[in-house]
Amino acid sequence: MSSPLSRPCLLILLITSSNIFSPTSSKSTLEPNQLRALQSFNIPTSTDPCSEPSFHNVTFCDSATPYRHLLSLSLSNCSSYLTLTFTALKSLSTLQSLHFQNCPIVPITFPSELIASLKSFICINSLRKLSSVWLSRLENLSELTVSNVPVNASGLVVIFGRMKKLKYITISYANLSGFLPNFIDSNVTHIDFSGNHLRGSIPTSFTRLDSLEFLSLSYNLLDGEMPTSIGDLISLKNLSLASNSISGPIPDSVSAIPGLVHMDLSSNKLNGSIPKFLSQMKDLKHLNLANNDLHGVLPFNLSFIERLEVFRVSGNMNLCYNHSVLSSKLKLGIAPCDKHGMPIFPPRGKDLSWDDPSDSYYDDYEDDDGGKGRRRRPNKVILGVSIALSSIGILGIFYFLCFKRH
Ligand SMILES: *[C@@H]1O[C@H](CO)[C@@H](O)[C@H](O)[C@H]1NC(C)=O
Ligand SMILES: *[C@@H]1O[C@H](CO)[C@@H](O)[C@H](O)[C@H]1NC(C)=O
Ligand SMILES: *[C@@H]1O[C@H](CO)[C@@H](O)[C@H](O)[C@H]1NC(C)=O
Ligand SMILES: *[C@@H]1O[C@H](CO)[C@@H](O)[C@H](O)[C@H]1NC(C)=O
Ligand SMILES: *[C@@H]1O[C@H](CO)[C@@H](O)[C@H](O)[C@H]1NC(C)=O
Ligand SMILES: *[C@@H]1O[C@H](CO)[C@@H](O)[C@H](O)[C@H]1NC(C)=O
Ligand SMILES: *[C@@H]1O[C@H](CO)[C@@H](O)[C@H](O)[C@H]1NC(C)=O
Ligand SMILES: *[C@@H]1O[C@H](CO)[C@@H](O)[C@H](O)[C@H]1NC(C)=O
Ligand SMILES: *[C@@H]1O[C@H](CO)[C@@H](O)[C@H](O)[C@H]1NC(C)=O
Ligand SMILES: *[C@@H]1O[C@H](CO)[C@@H](O)[C@H](O)[C@H]1NC(C)=O
Repeated sequence: MSSPLSRPCLLILLITSSNIFSPTSSKSTLEPNQLRALQSFNIPTSTDPCSEPSFHNVTFCDSATPYRHLLSLSLSNCSSYLTLTFTALKSLSTLQSLHFQNCPIVPITFPSELIASLKSFICINSLRKLSSVWLSRLENLSELTVSNVPVNASGLVVIFGRMKKLKYITISYANLSGFLPNFIDSNVTHIDFSGNHLRGSIPTSFTRLDSLEFLSLSYNLLDGEMPTSIGDLISLKNLSLASNSISGPIPDSVSAIPGLVHMDLSSNKLNGSIPKFLSQMKDLKHLNLANNDLHGVLPFNLSFIERLEVFRVSGNMNLCYNHSVLSSKLKLGIAPCDKHGMPIFPPRGKDLSWDDPSDSYYDDYEDDDGGKGRRRRPNKVILGVSIALSSIGILGIFYFLCFKRH
């Protein structure tokens, strides 16, 4: 059985066998000091850690002889009693990639040999607490991901000051405060600083990152206006500035970003009208402008709205739609326009209803979970039922497989 469903049973077998047999195996092709380091991290080594495919991609080795060396190590779901020792880490100085996930262990100073070799460091909900100084030493990184870990930093500048090779940066839900750093002359493709307490406006230097494909600054305390030069980000595909206090208009230069797929500017203080050029952006799939101060007539027709996977404009009090262009059945969460392009405010009594009386579009008004309103409710029910049914199914198969095995 090679079905992925049999894996949980396999895991149980692996753990049991590592307790039964001697932890040191003469069959391993891994360099002995590195093997000992893995054993000190409670990683089962009864099967050769360099044999492929590695279970859950815990390890990945080079092909040197007579002994192979680790290139990548991924520790997940560790016990909090596990300790990283300097000696063990020093013996792992061939690692290019080190990944911690759900490992609440105490961080230690990394040996300089390991710092020199590391290109990718990923720390998700692990290592308890990190400091900017600790992170800033990892100078050779091209990928840095820190998420759900408090980082003690007076400013992001301290972290990135010496990292000149970074291409992929995520420091999210890390309790960061201070201002955004300037990124000039950098080849970075991915920046995610969501879920922190960053303040101030978006520096114009950000718009010089012409390799940048992904930018998320959502869930921070940013203010000021969107840089008018935002359109210089010619490689940008995903832009999220959601849940900040950004004001002013949506800059015209956005129209110059050729491959924009995803734009979430929701829950800010953007004002002005919604630019019509957005409907000419042919790759756009996700457009969320909800909960701002945008006003005027929605400049879109049905074919544009139907082409999108997510379209939200609710929560803009002065925005309205032209009811000879769009139907109230779309449940856009905004009022229809009068002949001056101003919203007709909702009548208090049902008898005064201006449209299909069975159609109370305000049902949808406070909803904030993405997706087109009119499809949402049935979806939730169907989804719930299918999740319930499939969980029962999976449980059944799981029991069947485990019984067959033992
Ligand atoms: C292991 O890594 C390979 C390539 O990096 C990837 O395609 C695969 O999905 C990974 N497997 C698991 C179980 O994470
Ligand atoms: C870690 O735990 C989570 C949930 O408890 C589980 O989904 C995941 O597969 C585990 N990862 C590994 C590598 O065991
Ligand atoms: C980064 O890597 C280069 C070799 O690729 C090495 O010479 C240098 O010492 C490393 N930097 C640090 C801070 O370890
Ligand atoms: C961590 O924060 C405290 C209090 O703000 C400060 O005194 C300390 O110097 C910081 N440590 C580092 C390494 O940034
Ligand atoms: C988050 O940062 C604030 C200061 O900005 C500090 O008072 C607080 O203790 C930090 N929280 C954690 C979990 O580190
Ligand atoms: C960016 O990439 C180019 C070529 O790919 C390279 O010449 C340049 O040095 C890189 N710049 C930085 C700051 O890494
Ligand atoms: C970018 O946006 C697309 C479309 O909304 C989405 O499917 C994709 O997951 C996003 N990419 C990342 C890295 O979040
Ligand atoms: C948008 O808000 C700014 C202040 O944030 C104000 O100066 C400007 O006049 C407003 N523009 C429109 C079109 O309402
Ligand atoms: C809808 O708007 C788009 C872009 O403005 C335009 O190209 C298209 O012809 C319009 N479709 C209809 C049916 O009016
Ligand atoms: C609504 O659309 C119709 C037909 O395209 C147009 O004649 C009318 O001026 C529009 N109303 C407003 C307020 O834009």
